[in-house]
Amino acid sequence: MAVLGIESSAHTLGVGVVEGGRVLSNEKSMYHMGPGGIIPAKAADLHADNVGPLVSAALKRAHISVRDISAIGYTKGPGLGPCLRVGQLAAETIAAHSGIPIIPVNHAVAHIEVTRSMFGARDPLVLYVSGGNSQILAITDSPFRHYHVYGETLDIGVGNMLDNFARAADLDPAWGSSVERLARGGRYIQMPYTVKGMDFTFTGLMTNASRLLGGRPSRDVAYSLQETCFSMLCEATERALFLTRKSEILLSGGVAQNSRLRAMLESIAQSHGIRAHAAPNSLNADNGAMIAVVAEKYQEKGFRFPSKARGIDQRYRIDTVEIGW
Ligand code: FE2
Repeated sequence: MAVLGIESSAHTLGVGVVEGGRVLSNEKSMYHMGPGGIIPAKAADLHADNVGPLVSAALKRAHISVRDISAIGYTKGPGLGPCLRVGQLAAETIAAHSGIPIIPVNHAVAHIEVTRSMFGARDPLVLYVSGGNSQILAITDSPFRHYHVYGETLDIGVGNMLDNFARAADLDPAWGSSVERLARGGRYIQMPYTVKGMDFTFTGLMTNASRLLGGRPSRDVAYSLQETCFSMLCEATERALFLTRKSEILLSGGVAQNSRLRAMLESIAQSHGIRAHAAPNSLNADNGAMIAVVAEKYQEKGFRFPSKARGIDQRYRIDTVEIGW
């Protein structure tokens, strides 16, 4: 039977249907940010308006009805509280009428697992890069099977930094792709580069890049910002690769849509004689199918989530989440 997934952690509301790991539908609607960024209550209001029609659209596109659904996954966190709550309430409402089991899903696990299952990656080193977080991870079985964090940002996510820079440079949303476009053909300017072991920080870099705007061509600043932050991520990833000796690298999360980062990671993989994988952009952007993919795995492994294990958690860390596969 099919599994429904609802993603609502930030500006995107996504509803997807999967069956046997295959994506049958993946519908979405977006809250369009103004220059001030996302206003959580307004995004949540929009998600609340859209979630009913979007669930219907996802079922219709998958050519199924609610009776064909065996589980409903929703994003428990991390994310914005009001937005997360919409997804949870939608899942609880559908389940209340149908008795379908509800499965809370960690957003980062979903980003990674949709890529991992697509490529059949058994035990990869993962670079997870999003607005809210940036981490280097791999699966460990001790003390329970989960994604261990080898390195991570000590301040803000790389996507958040790129978004902030794009706002300072007055670029169009979606900001990540706007920065990538602006950076084409730019020339390198030296910028602060902060890697501490396998951890990294981005706020100093962001402040420096924003200050350079106006004094230097914005194309050069955008180019240098990308080169610097992606080099930091790749240096830390390569260090983790030496440590863990993994034979595959997996790139996932919203910033995995950036072609320059993909190329840099690919060249690291090539130099080590291993493979690098990144999903198509539609699955790296926030979406409902990735939530359904994880919910289906939990269901197959017989996990049950009573109401006290559900709810939302705005700071839901990936290394606290048991994965049973
Ligand atoms: Fe995300």
